[in-house]
Formats: sequence, C-alpha cells, structure tokens
Amino acid sequence: DAFCAVVPAAGIGKRMQSDIPKQYLSLAGKTILEHCLLNLIAHPRIQHIILALHPQDPWFNKLGIASVPWLTVINGGKERADSVLNGLQQARMSEWVLVHDAARPCLPHTDIDKLLALAGGNEGGILATPVRDTMKRADEQGLVLRTEEREHLWHALTPQFFPRAQLQHALSNALAQNISITDEASAIEWAGGKVRLVQGDPCNIKITHPEDLALAEFYLQRMKK
Ligand code: C5P
Repeated sequence: DAFCAVVPAAGIGKRMQSDIPKQYLSLAGKTILEHCLLNLIAHPRIQHIILALHPQDPWFNKLGIASVPWLTVINGGKERADSVLNGLQQARMSEWVLVHDAARPCLPHTDIDKLLALAGGNEGGILATPVRDTMKRADEQGLVLRTEEREHLWHALTPQFFPRAQLQHALSNALAQNISITDEASAIEWAGGKVRLVQGDPCNIKITHPEDLALAEFYLQRMKK
C-alpha cells in the first residue's frame, strides 16, 4: 500500500526571530522544508505529498523542488488545522493520510514504518516520546500549583496518521465549533475517536528556536550514516 502525506507549511514563524519562516531557513545546504519533503518522499510507501503554503509565499517557487511531479501545492488557511483540512481535500486517493510538520526535518524512516503499521487497524496514531523531566503545573505568577504525574505524559510529535475521512470529519467539525486544535490527534480526541501513541525517536525535533538548527544539523548528519 502507498500513502499520501499532507505537509502544513503555511505558518509565518514568529519564534525564530527571523524574517524568513523557519521552514525556509537553511540547514546543511538545503532549506528545512526541502529536507522534510525529500525525506518523506524517499520512503518507499509514500507516493505523493500535498504541501499547504501561504497564498503569498514568495520563497517556494525559487527552490529546486518547486516543480517535481510527486508534489501538489495548495493554499493553506488561517490556522494549522485549516491548512491540513485544505490538504485532505486533495488527498482523496489515499484512504489513510500522514500529516507531518514542515519544521521536522529529522524523521527516521523506521518511525514512519511503525506508524504505517496502524493502517487497516481500528485506530490511527501519532509519534510521541515520553516526557523526561518532572512536570509542574504553575499559576500565572509562576508559582507551582502541583507536580503532574510524569508516567502518563507524552510529547506529541508528527507524523500523525489517520483514516482520511475520519480526520476530515473531526477537523471540520472542530473548526466549525471554534475548538482550539494544535494537532490532528486533538481533533480526533475531541470527536471521541481513539489515538494510539507510537513511541518515536527523540531526534525528530520541531525547529522552533534558533538554537534548534545546530541540533537538527547534528541529527541529519547522523541519519545519513
Ligand atoms: O507554529 P507551529 O510550529 O505549531 O506550526 C506547525 C506547522 O503548521 C508548521 O509547519 C506551520 O508552517 C504550519 N501552519 C500552517 N498553517 C497555518 C499555521 C501553521 O500550515 N495557518
């Protein structure tokens, strides 16, 4: 079976202190976005990628990757969930769909394999890593209210992998009701669906702050070995 991946990349990064959105920053000779797309399409079971871009994105067409046949470019929306929903509408050939952040260039193929193994089963799932540090809940003044039970806390990564129709329904209903959705799984949860956690490699970081770039470069080099 081959699958389609949706990559939301329509965000204008505000946390990177840079004029260029983070997916267009350069890492080991290529943009983060190119690393992300080329790594996905290099997986033997990923056949096509739908990329959601900002309608006024001036950067993408300058990249060498702009006119490859395995890529469909569409307009993103106001929030990440809108961008993903636009992408899903173009992914009708795929019964299950992977959604992956443009800002995660270091995704090991073995993690994709683990996630794709859910296809045909009863529930979709997401890559996740167990929380390492002790977790505190604080009030607005920065005083600790309590310590959360770490054993059951996970970081939600991407890709997130769900039956396309299920995800499309969950996202459009959640958006219609103004529910805050920061990943695909939260829409599925809100709709009452099950989400399987698949333990992923902690190297699959989301580039968020400038210091993440050096770390991503290190992981990319290690992946090539
Ligand atoms: O801001 P954050 O890092 O959570 O964004 C996650 C992903 O969602 C990024 O790849 C970003 O480009 C994308 N996004 C989008 N459409 C938006 C907002 C964010 O595709 N309206």
